[in-house]
Amino acid sequence: MEEKYFIKTYGCQMNVYDSQRMAMMLEDMGYQKADKQSDADLVLFNTCHIREKAAEKLFSDLGRALIIKNERLEKGFSTIIGVAGCVVQAEDTEILKRAPFVDFAFGPLTYHRLPQILNDIKAKKTAGIVDTDFPAESKFDFLPENKALGGCSFLAIQEGCNNFCTYCVVPYTRGVEYSRPVADVIAEAKRLIETGTLEINLLGQNVNSYHGEDEKGVERNLAYLLNKMAELDGLKRLRYTTSYPADVNDELIACHKNIDILMPYLHLPVQSGSNKILKAMNRRHTRETYIEVVQKLKDANPKLEMSSDFIVGFPCETDADFEQTLDLVDKIGYIQAFSFKYSKRPGTPAATMDGQVPEKVKKERLDVLQTKLFALQDAFNQKCVGKTFDVLFENLGRHKGQFIGRTPYMQNVHALGSSDMLGKIKQVKILSATTNSLEGEVIKNG
Ligand code: SAH
Ligand code: SF4
Ligand code: F3S
Repeated sequence: MEEKYFIKTYGCQMNVYDSQRMAMMLEDMGYQKADKQSDADLVLFNTCHIREKAAEKLFSDLGRALIIKNERLEKGFSTIIGVAGCVVQAEDTEILKRAPFVDFAFGPLTYHRLPQILNDIKAKKTAGIVDTDFPAESKFDFLPENKALGGCSFLAIQEGCNNFCTYCVVPYTRGVEYSRPVADVIAEAKRLIETGTLEINLLGQNVNSYHGEDEKGVERNLAYLLNKMAELDGLKRLRYTTSYPADVNDELIACHKNIDILMPYLHLPVQSGSNKILKAMNRRHTRETYIEVVQKLKDANPKLEMSSDFIVGFPCETDADFEQTLDLVDKIGYIQAFSFKYSKRPGTPAATMDGQVPEKVKKERLDVLQTKLFALQDAFNQKCVGKTFDVLFENLGRHKGQFIGRTPYMQNVHALGSSDMLGKIKQVKILSATTNSLEGEVIKNG
């Protein structure tokens, strides 16, 4: 009987991409995807360390995994439990201390070694393998060919971060910035398109600082790469994420004018509207330079809409600082956003700063900010009613005959249709809207 795997993914899109690649490696080894965790011979948690809650979730899931492992053992089945991702990089010894039944753990930069690790475990029956190298080799050179899993695909072009925002673990968990060569990215994009993708989202912790080499060894920037991507036959939609405001240059802004498949939606995290807080966060932008960049982007493409990330309750944030954030939200008019209470991360400079904000204040500020952000999101969605959008359908809806797709602005759209819509772009007229999604009817093929 074929062995089955189950992967649970936490965290950002990079982790989603990594999990997809690990699944492909496992399938190459003969594993099949399990429908539920209790059917799996291999259970893998791909973890996130960005906020305290994300890391704690892993330990409660591991507790449950042990129970399932023991239940399976009673029925005569063994289970290998592995932990991957950013928690491993940050807390390798802690994991084995708190969950000694974990068979192996590796960080985000060494998951290409998964087949080897599994073979070692099976051959020697060893447990407790931990691999948190920052290896000299790039994992991308050792992964099997990527293929499309649907109409939208992620493509990692860059990994790691050199920005060291004072609250953030990413530079410690993903290491220094690394950019994949242009030819590798283009080759992967071609394979994704050949296997059915219409939309590619170029991924990196800080994609704006992409500096991959071309075939002549010349370093090329993100704008160059976007232009190369735009030349690919069959690609209908292009996105890139995540952007760092200080690294948005004029060449990149021009892409939003000149590349018609570049979607009119950009996630440009600002974090705070207060210059004092931005400085303490070690962000290299001010509220003024941020507003200027957004203005230039909107001048380049008047249809462009923005989304962002926010942190409230960063050390020393006063009511007046928070007001500045609210004011910035009004000025920019985001159509979507993620907002978080500041979470102390061990080893980061902000964790030991004076002026830590009480939990109660953080919660109050988050409620106020989210109320405002949701109102803006709702207003934008309502404005879409009666309009027609190209929608790329990706998922089955909850009701029979219902499908879910995305507009160019990343809004979820529910519409009735047939399963041959999946992975396709259709024109959809929007009939109604809520804060979180739109409902529409397919009027013709896109
Ligand atoms: N590379 C991206 C995303 C990093 S993580 C960027 O630079 O924007 C995603 C988001 O998590 C961040 O934008 C930030 O808003 C949030 N975040 C990161 N560390 C955090 C912390 N310690 N507490 C609360 N939110 C945090
Ligand atoms: Fe973290 Fe800042 Fe790098 Fe984003 S830019 S990953 S928030 S250090
Ligand atoms: Fe989390 Fe690591 Fe991504 S910490 S947000 S999974 S880079």
